[in-house]
Amino acid sequence: MEKINIGTNVSPYPMPLALVGAMVGGRINFLTVAWLARVNYKPAIMAVAINRRHFSAPGIRENGVFSVNYPSADLITETDYCGMVSGRVADKSGIFEVFYGELENAPMIKKCPLCLECRVIDTITLPSNELFLGEIVGAYTEEQYLTDGKPDIKKLNPLLLSMPDNNYWTVGAHAGIPWEAGKQFKREKK
Ligand SMILES: Cc1cc2nc3c(=O)[nH]c(=O)nc-3n(C[C@H](O)[C@H](O)[C@H](O)COP(=O)(O)O)c2cc1C
Repeated sequence: MEKINIGTNVSPYPMPLALVGAMVGGRINFLTVAWLARVNYKPAIMAVAINRRHFSAPGIRENGVFSVNYPSADLITETDYCGMVSGRVADKSGIFEVFYGELENAPMIKKCPLCLECRVIDTITLPSNELFLGEIVGAYTEEQYLTDGKPDIKKLNPLLLSMPDNNYWTVGAHAGIPWEAGKQFKREKK
């Protein structure tokens, strides 16, 4: 089949969605973020791209901390809302019940099955976004989301996004085991 060049407005897919928490002017705020990833093993570092015009950006800059809260699919309404409405025009502090770990200004969402608290170690200025690099200081879940002591994607039931078609998804079927699926092929290549 011939390859078609579809332009540059493409994203990796699916993208896990997160609600990024920050304290802005002393008030709790959450915004929805799809452009985020784990980018370092040790120390564990998250990269989160946030448009510098968003209400949250100066709060993260000022306090040097943020939280990353992965909602399950049943939080689709609240997640979509936090991605449509700015803290500049509405107070989003009462939407979720929050808790704190070690970092005073990184509010985390009780209803989210997996929450990270991060300390900013660097910020990269991109044309529209600030890329906040945050070291994970703590990660929080509940027993009900674990299998053999590890977060279980089926139990977390994360909310995923595809762009540029703009759709929300949940996780599909298990496909294989990493560092295992290619072993036979690797042996044959020797
Ligand atoms: C599905 C979805 C994904 C989004 N991903 C991002 C993102 O990765 N980075 C970003 O800066 N804004 C993203 N947004 C937009 C912000 O969440 C939105 O503008 C929000 O209202 C900003 O909130 P704030 O002004 O209170 O900080 C996304 C919105 C939605 C609905």
